[in-house]
Amino acid sequence: GSGLDSVAKGAGKKYFGTASDTNEFSDTAYMAILNQAGMFGALTPLNSMKWDSTEPSRGSFSFTNADQVVARAKQNGQIMRGHNCVWYNQLPSWVSSSGFNSTTLTSVIQTHCSTLVGHYKGEIYAWDVINEPFNDDGTWRSDVFYNTLGTNYVQIGLQSAKGADGNAKLYINEYNIEMTGAKATSMINLVKSLKSAGVPIDGVGFQCHFIVGEVPTSMSSVMSQITAMGLEVAITELDIRMTLPSTQALLNQQQTDYENVIKQCMAVAGCVGISIWDFTDKYSWVPQTFSGQGAALPWDQNLAKKPAYNGIVAGF
Ligand code: G3I
Repeated sequence: GSGLDSVAKGAGKKYFGTASDTNEFSDTAYMAILNQAGMFGALTPLNSMKWDSTEPSRGSFSFTNADQVVARAKQNGQIMRGHNCVWYNQLPSWVSSSGFNSTTLTSVIQTHCSTLVGHYKGEIYAWDVINEPFNDDGTWRSDVFYNTLGTNYVQIGLQSAKGADGNAKLYINEYNIEMTGAKATSMINLVKSLKSAGVPIDGVGFQCHFIVGEVPTSMSSVMSQITAMGLEVAITELDIRMTLPSTQALLNQQQTDYENVIKQCMAVAGCVGISIWDFTDKYSWVPQTFSGQGAALPWDQNLAKKPAYNGIVAGF
């Protein structure tokens, strides 16, 4: 095959994947690409496994949408990345604003992680157990988890996930750790302390939400420091946005940028795979979050391949 996953596997990587979700599954032209043999070897749900979707009220779990994503992956022979167990965002207010003490919040995290991960036992290659624990300056994010439990919430989440599916790779996933600096250093130090405490941790996810012309060049150096500790790493949410409207010059720069990102994963043996955060500009999260920006993905609004597609292939 000649799709992106085929090319990635041919280059020795485990997968090239995409994020998607059920609200896009009714778009038949979109699904033709998602389902295309050799194109995507891994699937991550954009939203349907998050806390507000899976446990909207305490002890009441709903897996309807997430189950459909997992079923689709199974039909397509794609592995799954689970996203995510513990995150400050898309967190229902019964968790964030209830004033739980440390004992109760510990039990709330344990129940959530073990039920979610346990529901998909044996079906998920890797779980983003902890998502976005740090501020950009490398300090801990002040959220309900940290404010109530300190850094202990990380091991509570990881140990619960491990107990529920002993074979899934357990990740911490973060953005702005793709360049050397305070935030990357905090992640490296966190991994070090988890390892020395015997806490289960298998991987670090580099989200890679980049800007055209501003792709960091020290990502492989950060990745190598983490793989040197015996972990794997992955690019988990890649997209490269631009100020709209897109021009030929910007699209060409974006092609170069995608190629350079792939090359940095290729430079690190323990960088196991790459996922983009959906594959078409039609459904990208970027324009709703960054006004006036977009065109971040390798397929355009009309599901046509952009130069970025060739950049990815060239990177492998
Ligand atoms: O579910 C409601 C729906 O009921 C309502 O009708 C609709 C109206 O706007 O909103 C729906 O919720 C939206 C949800 O996506 C599902 O579509 C939220 O408003 C919207 O904020 C949410 O955005 C998601 C975002 O995470 C939230 O933080 C994006 O789709 C998703 O791509 C994005 O993904 C994150 C990763 O999880 C972590 N890393 C960063 C990445 C990009 O922000």
